Amino acid sequence: MPILDQLPRISLAFLPTPLHEAPNLARALGGPRVFIKRDDMTGLAFGGNKARKLEFLVADALAQKANVLITTGAAQSNHCRQTAAAACKVGLRCILVLTPSHHEEFQGNILLDALLKAEVVRCSAEAQAETLARVAADERARGNTPYVIPVGGSTAVGAMGYAAMMGELAGQLRRLALSPAAIYFSSGSAGTHAGMLLGARLYGLDLALMGVSPSRPTPHVQAEAARIASEGASILGMSLAAAPADFEVDDAFIGPGYGISTPASLEAVRLFAETEGILIDPVYTAKAAAAMIAHIRAGHFRPDQTVLFLHTGGTPALFSYADDFS
Ligand SMILES: Cc1ncc(COP(=O)(O)O)c(C=O)c1O
Repeated sequence: MPILDQLPRISLAFLPTPLHEAPNLARALGGPRVFIKRDDMTGLAFGGNKARKLEFLVADALAQKANVLITTGAAQSNHCRQTAAAACKVGLRCILVLTPSHHEEFQGNILLDALLKAEVVRCSAEAQAETLARVAADERARGNTPYVIPVGGSTAVGAMGYAAMMGELAGQLRRLALSPAAIYFSSGSAGTHAGMLLGARLYGLDLALMGVSPSRPTPHVQAEAARIASEGASILGMSLAAAPADFEVDDAFIGPGYGISTPASLEAVRLFAETEGILIDPVYTAKAAAAMIAHIRAGHFRPDQTVLFLHTGGTPALFSYADDFS
């Protein structure tokens, strides 16, 4: 039995997520066939990619007898919202250390965190690491056992969720007799990307992993992905020393900054909605979609090829971006 199948894991997501064709979108772009892998439908508190990581992270927390999950992100973090939901599901407390976001109103993920009874500690971006450490130390001093999850759940343990996703995807592609040229996805804290590289090697999936950064420059994301993948490889007993250059990361679609819409990202949101009735989010998936759209329009793929888009969720944030669309 592969090591991945023996790791501690709890069930939080509805799996497998659908993989389906997006013919209207493909027609509008006039290029290859396009299929969408719907990780926005993992189900946990409106879905998203973090549910897969949390299946392994929360199992690890429970194995360590933790009674409180502590994590951090920007105020509109999808990872924080799904961590709060996972904590509810397994009966743990959840503390979120939140830094300022571009959209701070009581909407989107901020509203959902409150409904999910997360305990919120606010701090500046500069004080994030120190605050996270202090909150964990305070909990320990009170006799609690915290389990600290870094930004985005991007540890080697969390990355196992996306190594496993590639096995799921390999099976779906086999059944559909598809050999896609590339899969586009948002690569932020790089755990998704690292896991996908491990899974691609494990399951023999030969397609380009096109990570698109929503925030950080390419070398930063590549270095993080390589670090997490190398650690993940040792969990899986794989002889793999991942290097930054193993990770394709495009930072050309960030625009003015994290969480700030661009003309291309706004067009991507509208195009997915108008052609397929699929909602993507302005912070992550719209920028990844903008990259895929630009590359298809620039003729990177032939009409007889197939391109995948990994919808990693994030749609609750859409509601705090109403101004960008009015
Ligand atoms: C909707 C969405 N997509 C993609 C990502 C990026 O995933 P990762 O941080 O694993 O690179 C995130 C991270 O927060 C996210 O919320």
